[in-house]
Amino acid sequence: MKIIVLNGSPKGIESATMQYILYIQKKFPQHELKILNVAQQINKLEKNEEKFKEIIKEVKNSDSIIWGFPLYVMLVPSQYKRFIELITERNNEDAFKDKYTAVLATSIHFYDHTAINYMNAICDDLEMKYVGSFSADMFDLMVPNKRNQLILFAENLFYSIENKLPTTRKYLSLIKQPFDYIPGKLEKEEEKLDTQGKKVLIITDSVDKNFNLGRMIERFQNCFSNKIEIINIYDINIKGGCLGCIQCGYDNICVYKDKDEFTEFWSVKLESADVLVFAGNIVDRYFSSRWKMVFDRSFFNGHIPTLRKKQFGFLISGPLGQIANLRQIIESIPELKESNLVDIITDEYADSEMIDSLIYTLAKKLITYSQSGYKKPQTFLSVGGNKIFRDAVYGRMRFIFQADHRYYKEHGFYDFPHDDKYAKKMNEKFIPLTQNEKARKVFYSVLKTEMIKPLKRVVDNPDK
Ligand SMILES: Cc1cc2nc3c(=O)[nH]c(=O)nc-3n(C[C@H](O)[C@H](O)[C@H](O)COP(=O)(O)O)c2cc1C
Repeated sequence: MKIIVLNGSPKGIESATMQYILYIQKKFPQHELKILNVAQQINKLEKNEEKFKEIIKEVKNSDSIIWGFPLYVMLVPSQYKRFIELITERNNEDAFKDKYTAVLATSIHFYDHTAINYMNAICDDLEMKYVGSFSADMFDLMVPNKRNQLILFAENLFYSIENKLPTTRKYLSLIKQPFDYIPGKLEKEEEKLDTQGKKVLIITDSVDKNFNLGRMIERFQNCFSNKIEIINIYDINIKGGCLGCIQCGYDNICVYKDKDEFTEFWSVKLESADVLVFAGNIVDRYFSSRWKMVFDRSFFNGHIPTLRKKQFGFLISGPLGQIANLRQIIESIPELKESNLVDIITDEYADSEMIDSLIYTLAKKLITYSQSGYKKPQTFLSVGGNKIFRDAVYGRMRFIFQADHRYYKEHGFYDFPHDDKYAKKMNEKFIPLTQNEKARKVFYSVLKTEMIKPLKRVVDNPDK
């Protein structure tokens, strides 16, 4: 069989992910796995439609497609996202329809699930036959047992194609409802808001008032008596997507630093704001690839939470309610940056008055929370995610991400091994005690009341 591998790594063939493909090729010489470096060549494919058509022709003439890519900021790299967008923009969905397909990704398992979900949904949207995914840690190939699993994965893929096995569909098509949002004037009870000295900044990929997003932004600005600054990410000189060279790991300096405006945009503009509103249209199952480029390029900061103590709002045009995966990504962004997500307003309500009042409430809360310093408690999204970073930066990635290591050390990110004296005392006392059945019975009979005792002490002395 002929399998086309659409390589999503900006590094082309010098990619960790592609080593997995080359390994499969060695193990299954009866099949041809042809690698096409679509992410690395995205500029060419975008400018030269003939070159793009050659890729589509290869897809058409193949028995199956493997989407092979590295995880970049919870999704696929921006260059790969752009390739996916081009398929629809250039009406080439037919080439993919009914093709057997699978996903092979490498990462350190930080939000690999959101990238896999995204690609599964893209395959479903393209009406492909999705066999499954293999999400490997980037160095799994070195472990014999994990290599065996990779072989089984490939075997299952080839068997499914050869035997035309039916495949399940995980994601329903998106239903887009046509609706024109027409912002009204501020209601009588809605006074123009004062930013109270807080710097509010809107970042968007469109200000076009012919579309809902542009009008939602306008409405947001009109809630204030002060002028609210907008930056359109298409107006910033960004030379290209992240190259994955990780030279920034040493000192947080991007190889593009003096060649374009991205570093200044992020480190000066964004970092000096108190309130950030990210605005975007949904393009397929995420934001635009331009937005993705911004997130990928922010990787020059390594794993340091650079946008700390900010209040975040999102203005979105598109069916977010049908894309739980994207909502999770959005919710995780402020959390991981040690900031606070106030709300996400979309145009899905299809009710202009409702959207007006939601935007006004968002604007008001952004300022009041910024003044009071309110921040929601962390959830698994960042508690879990940060533990992955902590372990990686402390251990096997330290020599690459030396800047992260310095920051993590200075800011107490290395909160292990645990040195909780109280926990140690309790463990030393109660583990031996509960070995005795009688003592265990007594222990469990008082456990509930004893556990809440320290909490009750706080409740009983609320002003202490
Ligand atoms: C810009 C950038 C963003 C990354 N984002 C993630 C991420 O969100 N989650 C993760 O687990 N790994 C992330 N990684 C690590 C890569 O996914 C991993 O190193 C991968 O194996 C690289 O594959 P490649 O050599 O095929 O490009 C990121 C790496 C880079 C350079």
